[in-house]
Amino acid sequence: MEPITLPASRPVPIHPGIPLLGNTLSFLQNPLGILTTLQQRYDRMVHLRIGGRHQYLVLQPDDAKHVMQENHRNYGRSPAFNVLKIFLGNGLLTSDGDFWRRQRRLAQPAFHRQRLAALAQTMVNETTDWIDELQRLNRRHPVNVSQAFMDVTMRIVCKTLFGSDTIGKLDGLSAALDTLQYQANQRMLSPIRFPMQWPTPAHVRFRKAGELVDSFIYGLINQRRRDGSDQQHDLLAMLQSAEDDDTGERMSDQQLRDECVTLFAAGHETTAVSMAWTLHLLTGHPDVLTRLQTEVKTVLGDTRTPPPDAFRSLPYTLQVVQESLRLYPPAWIMSRLALADDPIGPYTIPAGSTALVSPYLLHRDPASWPDPERFDPDRFGPAGGGDVRHSYAYLPFGGGPRLCIGNQFALMEMQILLALLVRSFTIESVPNQRVDTHPLITLRPKKSISVYLK
Ligand code: HEM
Repeated sequence: MEPITLPASRPVPIHPGIPLLGNTLSFLQNPLGILTTLQQRYDRMVHLRIGGRHQYLVLQPDDAKHVMQENHRNYGRSPAFNVLKIFLGNGLLTSDGDFWRRQRRLAQPAFHRQRLAALAQTMVNETTDWIDELQRLNRRHPVNVSQAFMDVTMRIVCKTLFGSDTIGKLDGLSAALDTLQYQANQRMLSPIRFPMQWPTPAHVRFRKAGELVDSFIYGLINQRRRDGSDQQHDLLAMLQSAEDDDTGERMSDQQLRDECVTLFAAGHETTAVSMAWTLHLLTGHPDVLTRLQTEVKTVLGDTRTPPPDAFRSLPYTLQVVQESLRLYPPAWIMSRLALADDPIGPYTIPAGSTALVSPYLLHRDPASWPDPERFDPDRFGPAGGGDVRHSYAYLPFGGGPRLCIGNQFALMEMQILLALLVRSFTIESVPNQRVDTHPLITLRPKKSISVYLK
């Protein structure tokens, strides 16, 4: 019998770069620009050389699904996550394999639907207080909403994670987390990385910020342990008391610390950045803003703190949030390490290389999204074509087993923030404000976004 020979895989097209550095510089200078070019020039996959590594960008939703879901066992955390590990430790975002699976199992109940319903009340209360503060500001000055949303999402994540006893200490903590993220980002993108032990000014700042965050979180864990406060109903209490089904083990203090810092970091900046983009989009689309305000005022009325259930009846508000996450997905690119060769159609992603999936690109692919640059929340309405769209044409929260654990938390929080904000204010743009994208770990605006809240 003739041996079966599989057709040899075709070489993946290589995007031209420069000697030694490959595509690193152009990726550093204008990542979104280069992604758009790649989408126009290649149809399925393209081979890039970034930061001394071979990276394979998949361009079709079906192939993104293959990498993230269908063949996820072939993919681990990419080396990019090692930089995050320096400050997040071995938490849910950065860990891998059996250890990650166990941690995910332990943490998942904290994000259960019923559990989130209980957290919604905290979100509503915090947002209402925050809006009171905004109302006391001088209306003639624009409000830096990038900063304002960082503050409120930090308060929300802190209160839902750690309960009420922490709010006074948040100022230093927020700044320290910001320093950690900023420095990690610089390190991730920098072609030259000095060992962390070297006392460069950046490393010293990084270490001090890390110490502050650690002393805060360990202080809290120890206090809980001393008080025996199992009665607390926040996420920390849930994580502290979670027991592995098979072994009955609980998390160590180090593990609790890593999960808390991870939830802190992953859980506030993403939402804050996304909210700032949403307001920016609304200032350019007064028709959408009016429709949104009509829905919110009709459903919520004037009650100062509406019951959390009421926010479930705001379909258009959710559509606005979804469309904003389409145009500006905070996680604009995701990477995975290929553990073995992975044939995809006519190509193969080789073992040891990195697979890249870009929500930013998939969300702007004209094949899935007609007139992709247009902000149109009706895309997510009943007649918006959701039933025929590929499930991986839209993945602001990733997909497969590593789907964002906080996705429902984030959507609920964004709906509450947006609804209560547009109920109280009309939003207007600041004339001549230039708003550009600045893709760091998250897709931030280059400068803070300010708007008039009237
Ligand atoms: C708009 C807001 C958010 C966006 C766009 C977002 C996006 C994402 C994405 C794309 C991933 C997957 C990354 C990958 O597969 O490489 C992820 C993972 C994660 N997110 Fe979110 N996220 C948001 C809010 C939150 C919130 C509010 C929390 C927690 C309170 C959170 C906690 C996490 C954690 C712990 C992971 C790692 C999950 C795992 O690998 O098991 N995120 N997020």
